[in-house]
This record gives sequence, structure tokens and C-alpha cells, in this order.
Amino acid sequence: MSDTLILGIESSCDETAAAVVKNGREVLSNVISSQIDLHTIYGGVVPEIASRKHIEKINQVIELALEKAGVTLDDIDAVAVTYGPGLVGALLVGVSAAKAIAYAKKLPLIGVHHIEGHVSANYIEHPDLEPPFMCEIISGGHTHLVIVRDYGEFEILGRTRDDAAGEAFDKVARAIGLGYPGGPKIDKAAREGNPEAVDFPKPKVLDTGKTSLTFARGSHEMSNYDFSFSGVKSAVLNYLNKCEMTHEKWDVADVAASFQKVVVDSLVETAMRGVKDHNVKKFAIAGGVASNTALRAAMEKACAENGLDFYCPSPVYCTDNAAMIAVAGYYEFKKGNRSGWDLNAVPNLKL
Ligand code: KG4
Ligand code: ZN
Repeated sequence: MSDTLILGIESSCDETAAAVVKNGREVLSNVISSQIDLHTIYGGVVPEIASRKHIEKINQVIELALEKAGVTLDDIDAVAVTYGPGLVGALLVGVSAAKAIAYAKKLPLIGVHHIEGHVSANYIEHPDLEPPFMCEIISGGHTHLVIVRDYGEFEILGRTRDDAAGEAFDKVARAIGLGYPGGPKIDKAAREGNPEAVDFPKPKVLDTGKTSLTFARGSHEMSNYDFSFSGVKSAVLNYLNKCEMTHEKWDVADVAASFQKVVVDSLVETAMRGVKDHNVKKFAIAGGVASNTALRAAMEKACAENGLDFYCPSPVYCTDNAAMIAVAGYYEFKKGNRSGWDLNAVPNLKL
């Protein structure tokens, strides 16, 4: 059987990325042009600036991905692109580039769900991993606990009721003066801090009595596997205010470590409850927050204690990249799924 090469394109937020992946598992190139420096002075991603930068970078990034893979567009079998969720202007740049290439080269076009991409990052370095397995997707915009029934097929068990985990990291980082992007900075600061220094409340979600729920796409039903991170974020802000009022000194590393511990404990506890209730044997994490060192260590330990095989992408495949989009695109391609020329950006695309 001949090899299948997928060109993946990702531009949903502040990374312009392109990659070439062989047979859904082997990354031939993975080019990421990050805009972090541009957005840092604003303390977060400015959508208008992101779109403009994507426009400037996208062609160079795609060319470099082909060059690094040692291929040309003539070798590519299909073009996969993130079409949602994300920032609409940013998504449109990737979608338009992918359409242009696919149309000009008469190649199949495959629109990929960004979250499906994050989950698929796990296939890159784990040739043995195949569905079904449970996956916790923890990113800047999303927190989901799902069972991956098959490639691209998800049963959603829980999701965040308010802030996504990464969003909470970013907001707390800003409040304690660490700046953007907050996740990696809290991760680093927390290593020097005491996680028991400040007693922030553990997130609690109201018991709904539902433990084996499959959500209809886009529904707002709640489940016992839901997450909530805005409470702990507010607790950090209240603590900082209290310290200011009472002239009490607080320590950046201690606050970072204490906040991180509560979030990590909640992510691990919910995941392990899901695993036990659903009797799964394989557990994976995905998304930007999955690159957090404390979380990776805690998850690995919990999985070992519960006799589970633990899967986790390397940090470069946890945060936004196009290799994961090409991998997800490969499995959609194999299933015969194709997008039409009317493929559009869908900023609030549901899983
Ligand atoms: O998956 P991702 O790159 O983009 C989205 O799809 O949202 O995730 C970005 C999020 C940001 O909130 C960032 O602060 C967080 O992932 N993040 C981290 C770490 N690295 C990135 N959070 C905690 N620890 C990290 N090491
Ligand atoms: Zn992402």
C-alpha cells in the first residue's frame, strides 16, 4: 500500500502552523510560528492582530513544512485544516489557504475540529494507542472529559461550567504579575513554591446524579464529570485583595503552587472518577495545559495506582500545532470524509 501524506494547517488562535504527516502517525515536519511576543504587551491574544499576523506568515510556514518534510505539493494526498472552534478571523486565514491549495492541486479538503486535533496528538508518539480510550482535553478554551469511541467519535462525559483550565491559569498569572502566557509561567514559578501555603477551595460542581451521560451536540446539560475553575480563580483574586488591604505579604511562587495544586487535583480526581465508573483501561491527556509538569506527574501517578495505561503527548504536541490536525485529518480521510468548497470558519464549533 502506498503512503498517505497529509498537509495539516492550523491557525485557530495565536500560532500559525503547518505540518506534513505520513500515514497518520509519522510527523515529517511540524512548523509553528508563534505570535506570543506580539500579544504579550496586551496581556492576551488580540484577535485582529492575530489574523493579520497569520496572513503574513501562512505561506512561509506551509512552504517551510513542505521543505522540511522533503516533499512538494505534488506528493500530498489531502489538505486538512482547523475550521473551528477558535477566533473567526484567525481560522479564516488557515481555511482560505487550505482551500486555495486543495483547489489548485485538485486535492481533497478536510475540515478538522480543533479538539479532535488535540486528542489525535496522542497518536503521534504512541503507535500502540487506538480507540477506545478516555481522554481529558485541557486547553485555553476547553476542558472536556470524553471517551474516544473511535477515531473522531467522542462520547462527552463532562466539560467546564465556566472558565477553561488554561483560561484560569492565564487569568491568575496576570493577577499575580506573571503576565502572558500564564500557564507556562505558573508552571515554572510553582516549582519554587509551597503548594500548601494558601488553602484555596477545591472546585465543586453540583451533584446532578448523572454519571453516564452522553451529551447531544451543543446541549447545555450538566453532569457529575463537569469542571469549574472560576471559583478558584476568584479565590486567588480575593486572597490578593485581602493581602493588599491588610498589608500582608504574599509570595508569587506560593500562590502559583497553591493555585496549580487545586486545579491539578481537580483534573486528576474527575478523570479518575470517570475512569472507574466507565471501566476504561487507557487514559490520555491533551491540550496546552497537558504540558504542565505538575499535572503530567500527578496524572501518571494516579494512572499507575489505578492500573491504567497513561498516554500524554510531548509538550510541543500538547499546545497548538498542525501535526495533530494532519493526524486527525488522516483518520477523517480514511473514513471518506471530505469538506466542500463552502467550508467556512465556525468559531463556536461544538464537539
Ligand atoms: O491547547 P492550547 O495551545 O490552545 C487552545 O486550544 O486553547 O492551550 C493554550 C493554553 C493556555 O491557556 C496556556 O496558558 C496553557 O494552555 N498552557 C499551560 C502550560 N502550557 C500552556 N498551562 C499550564 N501549564 C503549562 N505548562
Ligand atoms: Zn488548542
